[in-house]
Amino acid sequence: MGFVDSYGPWAVVLGASAGLGEAFATGVAARGVNVVVAARRGDLLGKVADSISDTHGVETRAVTLDLGDPGFLAGLRSTTEPLEVGLVIYNATGVYTGEFEDQPRDSMRSMVAINCLGPLMVCEHYGRSMVARGRGGVVLMSSGAGLAGCPYNASYAASKAFDLVLGESLWAEWRRHGVDVMSVIGPAMDTPTYRASMPPEVLAMTPPAMAPDRVVEEVLDGLGSSPSFVPGQTNREALAALGALPRVQPVEAMAAAHAGFAKRHH
Ligand SMILES: NC(=O)c1ccc[n+]([C@@H]2O[C@H](COP(=O)([O-])OP(=O)(O)OC[C@H]3O[C@@H](n4cnc5c(N)ncnc54)[C@H](OP(=O)(O)O)[C@@H]3O)[C@@H](O)[C@H]2O)c1
Repeated sequence: MGFVDSYGPWAVVLGASAGLGEAFATGVAARGVNVVVAARRGDLLGKVADSISDTHGVETRAVTLDLGDPGFLAGLRSTTEPLEVGLVIYNATGVYTGEFEDQPRDSMRSMVAINCLGPLMVCEHYGRSMVARGRGGVVLMSSGAGLAGCPYNASYAASKAFDLVLGESLWAEWRRHGVDVMSVIGPAMDTPTYRASMPPEVLAMTPPAMAPDRVVEEVLDGLGSSPSFVPGQTNREALAALGALPRVQPVEAMAAAHAGFAKRHH
């Protein structure tokens, strides 16, 4: 089956106003699927939606929402109810870097709402119709940070471990219904959020991050082939090597990589 037959006629991309999410929405449209783009910044979303329909000749809808808002699904449903949604990509994320004890409780709650509760609700709502229809796809963005303890990024890393295991579990549960689920173990990717999250001195010392459109191509090509996936051959090799080591070593490697996020006096 072609991409549209498997995952069309509509996709929903959550967190699509910029960066990787915009690249996902564009990549899906380039394969002939209509797209609902959603994020908080409505002005950017409108531009993304118009540019996608102009370039790829598909239909688009834009929904302004905050995935940290417990009622977000009602707003999204009112737009998607009349549409047959065959693909959902949960790209948005909460972010926090710094000392764990300095993270405000509201930021912790929002991390769980956006990165854990949001994917659960979206999978339950859209997955139910896909399972009934016997076809569809779901992509959940996890991270290399979710593979091992990640100091100065603890709540984010723990939430990304949640996404990884949620997607892998649903891959096994839904494949017999024809629904392809994949957790993406995100490597460093060159997006505005990534650049903004790095202290300039850390960014300057870091090797170039992967281009979002390359990530999107690999993910869309591989959807359904495995429960989780690492984009980029060198990233796959590095993570495989790290995973074969005793548990303490990946945690210490993460600590070294994130040392720049510790307070200066450490
Ligand atoms: N970039 C990396 O290096 C990297 C590495 C590993 C994993 N990942 C994962 O890859 C995904 C993409 O991350 P990214 O850094 O590349 O970001 P991105 O796709 O460049 O941007 C994040 C998108 O999510 C939206 N968003 C954020 N919070 C939202 C909220 N509360 N409600 C609705 N939309 C929201 C943002 O739009 P608005 O601000 O307009 O809402 C934006 O469109 C994330 O799941 C991340 O965990 C990224």
